[in-house]
Amino acid sequence: MRTVMVASEALPFVKVGGLADVVAALSRTLAKKKVNVSVVIPLYSRVKEHPHFKENATLFGRYEVRMSWRIQKCEVFQTDVRNVRYYFIGNDYYFSRGDVYGYNDNVERYAFFSLAAYRLIRDYLPKTDVVHLHDWQASAIPMLYLDEFGKLPVRTMLTIHNPCFQGICSRGDLPDFFNLGTDYFDDGLARLDDNVNLLKSAIMLADRITTVSPTHQKELLSGISSYGLEKILHLRRSDFVGILNGLDTDEFDPKKDPLIVRNYGIGNALSGKKENKEQLCRELNLVHGDYPLFCIVGRLTYQKGIGFIIANLEKIFQFRLNLVILGQGEEDYEHQLSFYCRGRDNVSCNIRFSNEMAHRIYAASDFLLMPSIFEPCGIAQMIAMRYGTLPIGSKVGGLIDTIDSYNQLNEDSANGLLFHLDDDNLLVNIIFALNLYEKKRVLAKLIHNAMRKDFSWDRSAEEYLRLYRQMLEKNHLDS
Ligand code: GLC
Repeated sequence: MRTVMVASEALPFVKVGGLADVVAALSRTLAKKKVNVSVVIPLYSRVKEHPHFKENATLFGRYEVRMSWRIQKCEVFQTDVRNVRYYFIGNDYYFSRGDVYGYNDNVERYAFFSLAAYRLIRDYLPKTDVVHLHDWQASAIPMLYLDEFGKLPVRTMLTIHNPCFQGICSRGDLPDFFNLGTDYFDDGLARLDDNVNLLKSAIMLADRITTVSPTHQKELLSGISSYGLEKILHLRRSDFVGILNGLDTDEFDPKKDPLIVRNYGIGNALSGKKENKEQLCRELNLVHGDYPLFCIVGRLTYQKGIGFIIANLEKIFQFRLNLVILGQGEEDYEHQLSFYCRGRDNVSCNIRFSNEMAHRIYAASDFLLMPSIFEPCGIAQMIAMRYGTLPIGSKVGGLIDTIDSYNQLNEDSANGLLFHLDDDNLLVNIIFALNLYEKKRVLAKLIHNAMRKDFSWDRSAEEYLRLYRQMLEKNHLDS
């Protein structure tokens, strides 16, 4: 079976959010199961600077992409990583920029990407069985097929990682950027409210739709954090499945992680974590090295509940705890966090992203704070658990599916804390965690449970494979 993943980011070359981890790890696991997998992503500046790209990538081909009156050059590069072929869609005007996202012409950039990826698959990868689209940036592709062939000649799957971003644009953008008629808007296929909505068009056209946890699938259908998609998803509910993401357990393994100060496993987690913590506290000038260490790692965005953290910071600082923050995101949050954290001796605020530091924080911390407003799956809580750091998360989406919340009766299975998100609850749970920290026996048990949990991709990849097979059978019946 031949599958092509189309996404706006993928590790090891470019990562902004969890999407990059998922595309890479799912592809690699499917490849282990003898699926022939390719990944198509844009050739951003930061991809060009990646050592693997620099040393190994070769030119695959050049073609021109027409976007109504524009003729844009496209250069495709390729390389292999662990049995997965990566194709990079290059165009300096669209992708040689400092950042990955955040530009006013994002619709145009990903229209180019979709048209170029479509052409790559249609003309150069004709044996493709399944085109697996991730999020809105790849969502125009089914419409492009429909427009050219009058039906979809390959099976397509759409995975929704973030329902908040839908590729919203105007009616006129269809002809201007996508070479598509405005009838896709007028007849409703690509229309939601008064806008073109690319994600909606893919929800309507893909053979299967998935999202990244069973609970988030239910949320999306019931209108919770569905950003207006619930009715559309209802139309497709029999083809809509929630599959929990896994974790790259090779990359995130405290036993052999080369980035952390001291390696440890379940057997010596307490002493191992202690050493990592002492070292990190020294480096970050957290003077009370023996206090419980809380961390926040990831994108500093609305979705991640950073507003709740900021609203409670003054109170959090009064507790006997240390807090380390690592991440970047919305400027307002970055400024506020830096401002409030300045001059304190129990917080270290690092407005940047560093993979190495993230690993070291996970290894050193006692608790991870994750007060997400919505969370389709979430990866930080899984990494934290693998490193014996107990997650304190809000009761949403994938956090519900991965965290077994401690309630004083379930110490044999509990591995973290879950709470309903509101201001007081965050503080109440921090206090609960501080108490738990003193109960060393229970704490050790929870750490053990967390580290024991199976997050491998194998099971999830099997589910994707099962869906691919179903789609292909349907294909067979159709023809
Ligand atoms: C998005 C979601 C996150 C999920 C990730 C990978 O970033 O916000 O919850 O883990 O995609 O699927």
